[in-house]
Amino acid sequence: MASKLVLRMGDPRLLQRAEPITNFDSPELRVLLADMRDTMHELDGVGLAAPQIGVSLRVVIFEVNANPRYPDAESVPQTVLINPIITPLSDEMEEGWEGCLSVPGMRGLVPRYTRLRYQGRDENGAVIDRTVSGFHARVVQHECDHLEGVLYPMRIRDMRNFGFSDVLFPNQNAQDE
Ligand code: NI
Repeated sequence: MASKLVLRMGDPRLLQRAEPITNFDSPELRVLLADMRDTMHELDGVGLAAPQIGVSLRVVIFEVNANPRYPDAESVPQTVLINPIITPLSDEMEEGWEGCLSVPGMRGLVPRYTRLRYQGRDENGAVIDRTVSGFHARVVQHECDHLEGVLYPMRIRDMRNFGFSDVLFPNQNAQDE
């Protein structure tokens, strides 16, 4: 188990469509998830997708802990989501600021569905089926985009809303997804 190098935007591996997991509860999957957790925690990220560490499989993790320094950040349960399916529950979208461990130091304003259902499996193959909204829904869409080879800058509608974090938000220490 080890923290892995996170691929950065420009690496063609981030643009591939990832393959489904067919074998749950395997040693390989356990090692992958341990590496992903170590990497995400070391970099203080909100979420990570397997392709970001060079593994083209449909596995994402995410978690947002309640942090007294950021009372506005909604907490999101620690989740392992495998072979996800996202179904928006309305056409309504909202714009919000995102960052990404593969696009370090940057932030962009990205439209996302506000309410959705996501389904998939956890590491043991148990079914996950949740209806979520707001920041939780945003994080899931961001991570699952990685499985389609989509990085958040590709979704920004107005590139004037893309820039360096410390310039856009000089007083914040925001997390990456
Ligand atoms: Ni990302």
